[in-house]
Amino acid sequence: MKPVLEVQNLTKIFSYKGQPDITAVSDISFQIFPGEWVALIGESGSGKSTIAKMVTRLLAPSKGSIFLNGRDITHMKGMQLKPIYQKMQMVFQTPAGSFDPRRTLGDGIGESLRNSGMGPIQTQERVIQLLTQCGLDGSFAKYYPHEASGGQCQRAAIARALAIEPELLICDEITSALDVTVQAQIMELLHSIQKQTNMAYLFISHDLALVQQFSHRILVLQQGKLIEEGTPDEIIFHPKEAYTKQFIESTL
Ligand SMILES: Nc1ncnc2c1ncn2[C@@H]1O[C@H](COP(=O)(O)OP(=O)(O)OP(=O)(O)O)[C@@H](O)[C@H]1O
Ligand SMILES: [Mg+2]
Repeated sequence: MKPVLEVQNLTKIFSYKGQPDITAVSDISFQIFPGEWVALIGESGSGKSTIAKMVTRLLAPSKGSIFLNGRDITHMKGMQLKPIYQKMQMVFQTPAGSFDPRRTLGDGIGESLRNSGMGPIQTQERVIQLLTQCGLDGSFAKYYPHEASGGQCQRAAIARALAIEPELLICDEITSALDVTVQAQIMELLHSIQKQTNMAYLFISHDLALVQQFSHRILVLQQGKLIEEGTPDEIIFHPKEAYTKQFIESTL
């Protein structure tokens, strides 16, 4: 089986004139296979979001390569990235922040469908189907972001990411702003979507307890370096690194 995502020796150094360089991500390599749920965990400032931004090409890597379905996307720019975003989508931490406040949720969810040439009636039908799939009533299509709760907005953001049927979903702390019950519901939703679609997930979190139930593999990041990798059981019950043990003790 070929990986959906392969990252080789990825490095990000932030350099500003007159200031010392910040190595946010240092020589990271990993793969994610179809249908696999990979959790990337680490404390605040360990480089998780920087990795997500490089993989989604919102940020240029300083070194290393990114392959999506075997295709080198490391240096792609502008229009070249359009077909790439049909294969990978991202959901962010701030629920309402991922939607334009002046447009309805339905408008936001349908955007990529309209852009790909789908007519208005079909788009409307598909938006309602996506909302339902994500556990929301079709009437949410008419809601504005501020009229929905954080959890509802996050479901809508997942619906929008699913619209173009990507092969890889990147989630950066998507449940951090939600309360524990809603967090569990979002995890269950992602779990059921993965069973239906075989989509691969790169799921970023600082919360080991949250990711242990559904993830297949956990990558542990410390100060920009990947220090350990394993199944949830391996990481939680047989951690090799002292840092991982410490991280487990502080989060579980
Ligand atoms: N644009 C930037 N310019 C300079 N430094 C940056 C920039 N973005 C991130 N950093 C630095 O890179 C390091 C990693 O940041 P990053 O946001 O990737 O961490 P994170 O693991 O996502 O943290 P959190 O859990 O708080 O979201 C930090 O030291 C941060 O200060
Ligand atoms: Mg972050």
